Amino acid sequence: MTWKKTISLKALEGAGNASVKVGDNVIFMATSNGNLYAMDAVCSHAKCILGDFDSGNMTVKCPCHHAVFDLSNGKMTEPPFVAKNAPMDKLGLKTYDIRETGEFIEVDVPE
Ligand code: FES
Repeated sequence: MTWKKTISLKALEGAGNASVKVGDNVIFMATSNGNLYAMDAVCSHAKCILGDFDSGNMTVKCPCHHAVFDLSNGKMTEPPFVAKNAPMDKLGLKTYDIRETGEFIEVDVPE
């Protein structure tokens, strides 16, 4: 794993969340109550890019078939509406360590 520089903290705070290509990964990152979170941004169902962040519940909904993921641990909490019996325990997303270093945000991703 390697810490990779991404976007500025100011940009993330302004948007609240962002999906950013970091090395070979697309990472969904968000800030809430002063904490930073990072998770794979590619939905485990059919590879859409996540983007609908609910900061109150700390969840991210996929725009394609509305699967919902817990941003704190990557677990799928609601299945896609087109696959209600999907094995949610096997469809979680990877979460990443994330940190702020001065002006920028870094994410610890595979080399
Ligand atoms: S691609 Fe995300 S729920 Fe289907």
